[in-house]
Amino acid sequence: MWDPATYLRYGDERSRPFHDLVARIPAGRPRTVVDLGCGPGQLTATLAERWPASRVVGLDSSPEMIDRAAALDAPVDFAVADVRDWHPTGDEDVVVTNAVLQWVPGHQDLLRRWATALPAGSWLAMQVPGNFDAPSHRALREVADRPAWRADLVPLLRADPVDDPADYAALLTGAGCAVDAWETTYVHLLPARPAADHPVLAWMEGTALRPVRAALDASGWSDFRAELGVRLAAAYPLRHGQVYFPFRRVFVVAHTGDRAEENL
Ligand SMILES: C[S@@+](CC[C@H](N)C(=O)[O-])C[C@H]1O[C@@H](n2cnc3c(N)ncnc32)[C@H](O)[C@@H]1O
Repeated sequence: MWDPATYLRYGDERSRPFHDLVARIPAGRPRTVVDLGCGPGQLTATLAERWPASRVVGLDSSPEMIDRAAALDAPVDFAVADVRDWHPTGDEDVVVTNAVLQWVPGHQDLLRRWATALPAGSWLAMQVPGNFDAPSHRALREVADRPAWRADLVPLLRADPVDDPADYAALLTGAGCAVDAWETTYVHLLPARPAADHPVLAWMEGTALRPVRAALDASGWSDFRAELGVRLAAAYPLRHGQVYFPFRRVFVVAHTGDRAEENL
C-alpha cells in the first residue's frame, strides 16, 4: 500500500526530476496529456497548468494515491488503473511516467508497445531511479539477507529493475522514435532532526521499504528499521546537521515516428 503522506515527506526533492523531465517536452498544444503512475497528483496538476487547453489524465494503481489526487480539485481526470493495462486511444500527444516503471517488471515491453501505438509526433517521457547499487539499497539487501528476515524478504527484493539511458535510447530508437536520454545524480541535502530517524531511512520508508514493511509484523519491522538505520548512519554520516544523499536518475524523452526511414 502506498501512503501519500509518507511519500510526500521529501516532495521538493522528489519533484525536481519530474520538472527536469517535462522541461524537455516541447509539445505546443497537445490534445491529451497522460501521467501514468501519477501518485498524489500534485505534479500532474502542473501539466494542466502548462497545457491548459489539453485534456489531462492521471492514472495510478493505488486507490490511496488517487483519493489524494482527486482532493486537489485540479482540472485533471484522475482514475485508478494499472499502467500495464493502458493502451493509447489515438489522441495522446504527451505521455509522462515519472518514478513508476521501476515497479513494473518487463516495462521495456510496455515502452515499445506504447511508442509504436502512440500517434506519430507524440512525446513519451519517462524517468526512473538508477540507484539500485547505491549504499542505501545495498544496505537494504544486506539486512534483508540476515537469517532473521531472509525467508520473508529476499524473495521480495528485485534484481536491478532498470536499464541504463543508452539501453532505453536504443530500445525506443528501434521503435521508430527520435530519442533524448540522459542521467543525473542529484545530491539531496536531507536535514537531520533531533530524535528523529536517520533522514535516508525516512526517505526510503516512502518508497523502497514499503514491501518490507508489508511483509513483517510490528516487532520485526521495528527491529529491521533499527538495524538498517545503523547501516545508513554509517553510509551517510551527518555533516553540518544534514546528510548528503546522492541519487542517480535515468531520463528518456522519445518523439514518436520521427526517425529517418533508412535507420529503421
Ligand atoms: C514513486 S511514486 C511516483 C508518483 C508520481 N509519478 C511522482 O512522480 O510523484 C510511484 C507510483 O507508481 C504507482 N504504481 C506502481 N506500479 C504501478 C502500476 N503497475 N500501475 C499504475 N501505477 C503504479 C504507485 O501507486 C505510486 O503512486
